[in-house]
Amino acid sequence: MSAPSSGLRELLGEMRADFLAARDVYDRRHKSGHWDVFRPDFERLIDLPEAWPDFRRNGIAAGMQTSFDKRLMDPPSEMVPFREPAPQRLGSEDGRQLEGLFRALAAMIGEDLIDALCDTEVGHPQVYPFEGRQLNLNELLLSYHAWQVARFSSKGRDLPQVIVEIGGGYGSLAAKMKQLFPAALVLLLDLPEVNAIQSWYLAQRFPDARRMGYVRFLEEGKPRITPDLADFLVLPGWCMEDLGEDLVDLVLNLRSMMEMRREIIAFYFAGIQRVLRPSGRFYCVNRYQKRVGEELSTIKNYPFDGHWQILLSQACWAQSHIHELLLERRAEDVEFPPSFVLASLP
Ligand SMILES: C[S@@+](CC[C@H](N)C(=O)[O-])C[C@H]1O[C@@H](n2cnc3c(N)ncnc32)[C@H](O)[C@@H]1O
Repeated sequence: MSAPSSGLRELLGEMRADFLAARDVYDRRHKSGHWDVFRPDFERLIDLPEAWPDFRRNGIAAGMQTSFDKRLMDPPSEMVPFREPAPQRLGSEDGRQLEGLFRALAAMIGEDLIDALCDTEVGHPQVYPFEGRQLNLNELLLSYHAWQVARFSSKGRDLPQVIVEIGGGYGSLAAKMKQLFPAALVLLLDLPEVNAIQSWYLAQRFPDARRMGYVRFLEEGKPRITPDLADFLVLPGWCMEDLGEDLVDLVLNLRSMMEMRREIIAFYFAGIQRVLRPSGRFYCVNRYQKRVGEELSTIKNYPFDGHWQILLSQACWAQSHIHELLLERRAEDVEFPPSFVLASLP
């Protein structure tokens, strides 16, 4: 293996420094049993340049992407920083399913948008070749979500300027938001280990973008979040408390509150309801129910207050065990709040 370039060394150095700064003050309540999977010396993984090029197939992003391959759903053991990459090419059975999903999605959002949004390069994910394309399940699913958010965000209103994603996995949807809303600042809130993965991914996808991590955020005295600050801000989840009131246009949470403890869901809801400006939107896509340790996480019981107008509420495309909600923040109580509308969900 050749020596890492100076750009790569600098990036790994930033990832390491951000991780160590966050580890010093780690708010452990954020790690549910489900996500207590990382080795305590995670910085050793960050230090291995050879670990990163295949990170979407070698276990580093395990549990952060929907996949046909069970090996990519289980995190690596504590002793092994990363695994031998799983085969890159999917078998024909998975391929047939992907073809069907591609055709259905193309009928809904168009082939051109799928081609523009799907990234099957960075991290060398598992793919199936089809009509000159490389199909990947997670990328198709997140392209659907990006389209759904974008079409509601573009109709008769200003485009979102400040977007917050809570629990964004390796950064796929955040990247798609940047493609669709190039002027926006995208803030990712996640566990510190996952922040490192997001920083890697976004640096590969957008080498010229302005990225700010935890160290610089602290050094600059927790600055006010505006699009002038950066293209991507990558921070530990507890920084939600550092955001000012009414400054966010759009909050995204996909398949991640369903893996958090009730206390942390309540923490994020208090934050979302404080930082989202009136008529800002919340896209919340989570399982109807999922067990998290001793607790049962149930979307209809999320602590929505009465200031939410539901714009969309339906079973999710291609994942009927997951519910898709788009809500708009209102200054006043609405007539039919989520606690009323969602009462009929399982
Ligand atoms: C199943 S993945 C979902 C990834 C992506 N949103 C998707 O739908 O494909 C769950 C995500 O929630 C994140 N997560 C877990 N606990 C968290 C917490 N307390 N705060 C923020 N993110 C958290 C995980 O690190 C991961 O990024």
